[in-house]
Amino acid sequence: MAEPDKMSDNSNDKIMKKNDSNAKNSQQNDNEDADSLDEQPLDIGEHYLVRRSAESWHPAEIIQTRFNETDNQWEYYVHYEGYNRRLDEWVPRGRIMSARFHLSEGKTGADSKAWRERSLVTDLLADSTDRKITRNQKRRHDEINHIQKTYAEMDPTTAALEKEHEQITKVKYIDKIQIGRFEIDTWYFSPYPEEYGRQSKLWLCEYCLKYMRLEKTYRYHMSECTLRQPYGKEIYRRGTLSVWEVDGKDHKIYCQNLCLLAKLFLDHKTLYFDVEPFLFYILCEVDKHGAHIVGYFSKEKESPDGNNVACILTLPPYQRQGYGKLLIAFSYELSRLEGCVGSPEQPLSDLGKLSYRSYWSWVLLEVLRNVRGTVSIKDLSVMTSITQTDIISTLQSMNMVKYWKGQHVICVTPKLIEEHIRSNQFKRPRLTVDKSALRWTPRRYGPPKLGKK
Ligand code: ACO
Ligand code: ZN
Repeated sequence: MAEPDKMSDNSNDKIMKKNDSNAKNSQQNDNEDADSLDEQPLDIGEHYLVRRSAESWHPAEIIQTRFNETDNQWEYYVHYEGYNRRLDEWVPRGRIMSARFHLSEGKTGADSKAWRERSLVTDLLADSTDRKITRNQKRRHDEINHIQKTYAEMDPTTAALEKEHEQITKVKYIDKIQIGRFEIDTWYFSPYPEEYGRQSKLWLCEYCLKYMRLEKTYRYHMSECTLRQPYGKEIYRRGTLSVWEVDGKDHKIYCQNLCLLAKLFLDHKTLYFDVEPFLFYILCEVDKHGAHIVGYFSKEKESPDGNNVACILTLPPYQRQGYGKLLIAFSYELSRLEGCVGSPEQPLSDLGKLSYRSYWSWVLLEVLRNVRGTVSIKDLSVMTSITQTDIISTLQSMNMVKYWKGQHVICVTPKLIEEHIRSNQFKRPRLTVDKSALRWTPRRYGPPKLGKK
């Protein structure tokens, strides 16, 4: 790919041709912008309104520019204010409104929260004008729409760490991967080695996860690679679904490749190369060709924080079909066999929160629905391997717990449980773990090594 600065001499002529109507409009509205369009690409760091979908415009910041030789035009890597970075993308000039977006308009920067809340109110009230927005509704809306906290809403340390993290990982160059029969759009930056990390598409062997830059290398590899399933040991098989346990110490390269792949879909993940202290559980769909990776979770061999999951991922083509909650259920099944409780490593992503909240709510509603007599939070924890903290926060979100005389007490009636179950907010999981199909006994690995992440 050519460097943007080497192409700047004639590139904007081409933009003018491509976006002629756009440029004419901009001349009518904003002469200053029309001039700058003629001379150089838009500046990094500037804010514009950018078209995200059919007719929806959002304030966005330009993070990076590049010259697309195939289309003969500049492209801009934009971040939509207040939205998850997964939605950051390369857009052509035609999707950027000509007038710059001024901070004084109160829709960006420190005021973006107020702006987001205004748009939230509009969204939520669209179908019912007199509906009141509860805090829970707002939280769920924010989570489902993947709305991020602003720096001002974070504590200072988190905000500083977040800024640093964003600085390092702000542009994702690998736009797509080909893995097995899927071409998948990536979500985030992943630290593939230099010459691979700058490719716009990588080719991955779906079995050994080796990554390649060229299709022909990939085709050759696929004819040579004899692996047809993950490394390690198959510990679960039910119908076409199987789970493999892979020890990071025994299959280091495979697990590193898995982490690099996962990072393309996980924003806050810092384990890429130090895989030895972890076990990896790979979920596969099996057919006559082999065991195709669907998703996985990793788990520290010994977790000082009591985590039963470090990272969890369903590959995008398989998402929203119940595999995520199956992996979560699987992780709790392992904790149950270990005789302990566990919790996922923090922070959870927006999608992680939705999936865990949904899993926890369903499991707790099922237990509460069937239990006879009284039950304490501790009892629930022993029955489900979910930590008391996670149980309390889940019950709080369903208004089923009260703080009384210094402790949390479950406060629920059969009617309330039925109402929640009927509300369809917590659906029966599509896929569940068949305990009889699990062949696994816990092992002890000794104290965890320092520098786990
Ligand atoms: N928008 C709205 N809701 C969603 C979305 C979405 N894009 N994706 C999942 N959900 C909801 C589902 O509706 C479902 O809830 P419901 O059954 O009550 O309706 C719930 O989340 C889980 O759905 P599943 O189909 O079981 O989960 P999925 O296979 O999609 O996997 C996962 C969930 C693993 C979080 C997936 O989205 C993913 O891999 N995301 C990228 C990586 C990530 O964020 N991982 C979690 C990080 S936190 C950690 O690792 C500890
Ligand atoms: Zn291979």
